[in-house]
Amino acid sequence: MALFCKDIPGIAWFGVELWPSELKQAYRTCAYSGLVQANLASQLPLRHGLADVIILNEILMYLDNSTELLAEFYKILGPSGIIFVYNPIYSTPNVLSTLKRIGRRIHRSSEAIAFDCKSDWRQASRASRITFYSFDSLISEVRYAGFEIVHVAGFRMFRNRIRAMRKLEDYDWYRKITKQLAGNHPRWASDILIIAKK
Ligand SMILES: C[S@@+](CC[C@H](N)C(=O)[O-])C[C@H]1O[C@@H](n2cnc3c(N)ncnc32)[C@H](O)[C@@H]1O
Repeated sequence: MALFCKDIPGIAWFGVELWPSELKQAYRTCAYSGLVQANLASQLPLRHGLADVIILNEILMYLDNSTELLAEFYKILGPSGIIFVYNPIYSTPNVLSTLKRIGRRIHRSSEAIAFDCKSDWRQASRASRITFYSFDSLISEVRYAGFEIVHVAGFRMFRNRIRAMRKLEDYDWYRKITKQLAGNHPRWASDILIIAKK
């Protein structure tokens, strides 16, 4: 994400990441003015009023303190700050959350992997995707933190519903059709981007 944004003049990007392997990868992009190793589930080492723009790209779903975290990001944003929240959405989030809770109970070890930064991130990610949002619940959570929603855009279709369909994303024709569908009907999309302001 920072690679995509790094050429916007006059902006210095700071990244927060827990896993050393991912931190290293972010460092190699040369896109960040600063990178901080921190666990967003327990701390946010950033000054209030520090940022003009905050990008939460596929991160809220890994945290069970997302409500508190968004409220903290509200304070970290300056007076005319903007936040971008990109996250998958599901039509049956409660069913998925319940299944996940049962799974975590059965595999108690998964929980340990999720917050052990020595583990491989790929292993950890499977264990730590803990919050499943619907279109409405993601928007409500951003609103609840105090933000005013400016725009909601839909991206991709079927990605979280049928895994095999992800392979189709390699084809231009498929990306074109689904981009249009998701764009016109964000509620049906598999991922949404919320743009909100203070
Ligand atoms: C799907 S990736 C998103 C990638 C990144 N935001 C980007 O734009 O390229 C999720 C990232 O969240 C990080 N992550 C997961 N749980 C975290 C936590 N508790 N604290 C900090 N980072 C975490 C993972 O290490 C991983 O790099």
